[in-house]
Amino acid sequence: MAIVVQPFERNFGADIVGVPPDLQVSDDDFRRIEAAWAAHGILRFRGLDMSPEQHVAFSRRFGPLHIMTPLKFNLAGHPEIFVVSNASKDDPSRPIAQEQGAGDAGLKRAGEGFHTDGEDKRIPNAGSFLYAKSVPPERGDTLFADMYAAYEALPDKIKQAMAGRRARYSRIDLHHVYYPLMDPLTEEQKRERPDVCHPLARRHPVTGRTSLYIGRWACDVEGLPKDEGQALVRYLQEFAQQPRFLFRQQWQAGDAILWDNRCTQHCATGFDDTRYVRTMHRTTLEGDEPRMAETSAALAL
Ligand code: SIN
Repeated sequence: MAIVVQPFERNFGADIVGVPPDLQVSDDDFRRIEAAWAAHGILRFRGLDMSPEQHVAFSRRFGPLHIMTPLKFNLAGHPEIFVVSNASKDDPSRPIAQEQGAGDAGLKRAGEGFHTDGEDKRIPNAGSFLYAKSVPPERGDTLFADMYAAYEALPDKIKQAMAGRRARYSRIDLHHVYYPLMDPLTEEQKRERPDVCHPLARRHPVTGRTSLYIGRWACDVEGLPKDEGQALVRYLQEFAQQPRFLFRQQWQAGDAILWDNRCTQHCATGFDDTRYVRTMHRTTLEGDEPRMAETSAALAL
């Protein structure tokens, strides 16, 4: 059966229908999937049944894979698979006790707060492929924001204010905010994750389109007074989170979403993690250093 690309509303996101459950597709089908990814930013596959090897093999066709650190949250024997889970290691059908803190079979409460993967590193990740293994009967959705549409909709005076500028991202300043259940960063970890700056208007390396590039680890803006930079970052974060730019994924076990971190943002939403288990397996693609969009650089002149 030939694969079919079914775009979502506004062309942001698409379902890929007609793939085998193990996602082992021909080169021709893979090229269609890759083109659909560039066109739609996020792709959803449903009814999958992939082994970790098949998940890794499909992801690798898009490029080299990134190994997440700390390594303890990756699947045993498959370091390319990062596990987001609140399941108990002893009994994966039960949630860990609340007081145990960060999950013992994966990272619990990862990804709450809009972000793009790796935005706090010099070379952020190009994309990520999240596969739902167990999902709660209610909630636990993931929101995705269309950052091309967000950039296009920005008022001209904001485009002008951010023209040619870069935001500062700091794991050191914000780790305690987004990972309250994890240990504080050690001095060595701080040295490994120094602050980085990325352009606010990013040129996509494949499509050439401009997206708004901002996420939860952004603090302020290089070259602007701190309070002015903080206010601009907050404005841009809130602007991108408006419902008109969002797609909500309500997960079923066997769903997987491939997203492009260079033109989308995402955010895990909460669920009752004292009653239900949610276990997701994620592969993560290596990326490239974000480039300033020429249009934004030109506005600054
Ligand atoms: C992530 O940010 O990679 C996890 C998203 C989710 O669990 O919904």
